[in-house]
Amino acid sequence: MAQLRQVEDEPDSPAPDSFGLFVRGRGFLRRRLGLAVTRMRHRRVTFGDRCDVRSGARFLVSRNAEVRFGSGCVLDRGFTLESRGRLVVGERTVFGHHCTVASARDVQIGRDCLFGEFVSVRDHDHAFAQSGTAIIDQGRVIAPVHIGDNVWIGAKATVTRGVTIGANTVVGAQAVVTRDLPANCVAVGVPARVVRHRDTRSTATH
Ligand SMILES: CC(C)(COP(=O)(O)OP(=O)(O)OC[C@H]1O[C@@H](n2cnc3c(N)ncnc32)[C@H](O)[C@@H]1OP(=O)(O)O)[C@@H](O)C(=O)NCCC(=O)NCCS
Repeated sequence: MAQLRQVEDEPDSPAPDSFGLFVRGRGFLRRRLGLAVTRMRHRRVTFGDRCDVRSGARFLVSRNAEVRFGSGCVLDRGFTLESRGRLVVGERTVFGHHCTVASARDVQIGRDCLFGEFVSVRDHDHAFAQSGTAIIDQGRVIAPVHIGDNVWIGAKATVTRGVTIGANTVVGAQAVVTRDLPANCVAVGVPARVVRHRDTRSTATH
């Protein structure tokens, strides 16, 4: 409740003066130009309008991969993407700095999701069943990852192969998600477990 009051008490930001408008306009142009350059450099990736791809983003995309970001996505500094398969991200999803998303076959992320910094999402692991063979020679185990709309994943969390996270769910910082999580819940810890369900009728901020 205290947190809610704090949000309500925040003063409205003052209307920008002409210098503020100039700065905003410059930022807008920089993002538009940046997106044009990113599209040219990474032709195997489809970016919707108004995507904001910040410095140090890396895209390792093989020829047959399908990679799409909806409009208004933000990929903060040091974002890393590896794809040999399908990777689809919905509109307005935001990745904090140094997130990694890797798709060997199928990763789907909904719209309006928020990823804290250093989050890792992968649909594959190294196979390691044979103890007498180097793990590096044992290939991969692959299973799709699906993350619903409006999911918030806290900083440094990891989502492992084969996991589905339902819409509107919150995953705590540093969690390791190894099993499916339902929609509308809060899950924390290693491995991530549901600690409560969210009241979706509520208009509160959390
Ligand atoms: C999960 C989170 C959103 C809090 O959600 P909440 O529903 O308000 O949960 P609560 O604070 O009531 O905590 C519920 C329980 O989970 C525990 N918990 C909360 N966050 C946890 C975390 N990240 N890891 C492990 N346990 C956690 C609490 O200690 C509490 O345990 P208890 O019932 O034994 O006391 C918050 O703790 C969090 O991790 N935020 C992510 C912050 C972040 O990474 N931001 C990056 C920028 S996007």
